[in-house]
Amino acid sequence: MTEFAADVRAGLNKSRKELPSKYLYDELGSALFDAITVLPEYGLTRADERILARHAREIPREFSMVAELGSGSGKKTRNVIEALDSPHYFPIDVSAPALERCQRELESLAQVTPLEMSYLDGLDRVRSGRDGEALLVLFLGSTIGNFEARCRAELLAQVRARMREGDGLLIGFDLVKPVETMLEAYDDPCGVTASFNLNLLGRINRELGGGFNLRAFAHEARYDAGERRIEMHLRSRIDQTVAIRGANLCATFREGETIWTESSHKFYAEEIPRMARDTGFRVEAQWVDEEWPFAESLWRAVGSG
Ligand SMILES: C[S@@+](CC[C@H](N)C(=O)[O-])C[C@H]1O[C@@H](n2cnc3c(N)ncnc32)[C@H](O)[C@@H]1O
Repeated sequence: MTEFAADVRAGLNKSRKELPSKYLYDELGSALFDAITVLPEYGLTRADERILARHAREIPREFSMVAELGSGSGKKTRNVIEALDSPHYFPIDVSAPALERCQRELESLAQVTPLEMSYLDGLDRVRSGRDGEALLVLFLGSTIGNFEARCRAELLAQVRARMREGDGLLIGFDLVKPVETMLEAYDDPCGVTASFNLNLLGRINRELGGGFNLRAFAHEARYDAGERRIEMHLRSRIDQTVAIRGANLCATFREGETIWTESSHKFYAEEIPRMARDTGFRVEAQWVDEEWPFAESLWRAVGSG
């Protein structure tokens, strides 16, 4: 059984059904995500891009290697690559189509070595081929918000363990804003985010021989104020049973029951320095976009790691 099949089987067998968000990004999912980034309601990417356009030149030029976690199509990264001295760039992403787009976007500016891997495996590969170069790791777009608090700290510590003292981490955090604004960003009236979410069931049909009728599920975005996170769910419109051949599974859904597909945690700018300290970094600079509250934070790896 593939890892995808095993994860689908495990996630849909839970009493609170869920699917890992990394599977949202097949070819169609990555294209739909790129469409989300230009939606009027989704200000996050534009805020990130504004900050990078304004401040990338303040990043010390010593970094000759850049590794990006979850690069996607790498459009915003251009600002960082242009500000440095022709660094060797390693985009790390589980989506091959996104990596192809990223390579096309940036190969005229830098040597690009795409790594179709998960975050930490990709960083291991970067580390294994490294001599004395200073490394800057990018984790843009608030992808860190897809992790629950404990996993977030663990991931950052694992990233730190793969870096050397003095290396940099440029990391984006979407900040708390009015609930309506946050909900619209994940439930746009054109239905692009709904398609992005539903495509996960389409992907299961295509790759695992699933029998999902996508019209029998509805996209739902919720805000959990206590946890400070937007949750994306797929709500079953009816009682139904769905066979997924490749995962050796028959999943039963009650009307109204949901599959949790993604969390996007929202942050306060003041909590970022503590997060850095707790995971082996210190904040060297931090920029906040006022139009769409979003923080870009430049961290330095400290201690022995
Ligand atoms: C929210 S998108 C962000 C893309 C881009 N960094 C941006 O800011 O617009 C997350 C990206 O991370 C990739 N991704 C998700 N989980 C991953 C994982 N565990 N390892 C590597 N890449 C992953 C997805 O394929 C997707 O391209």
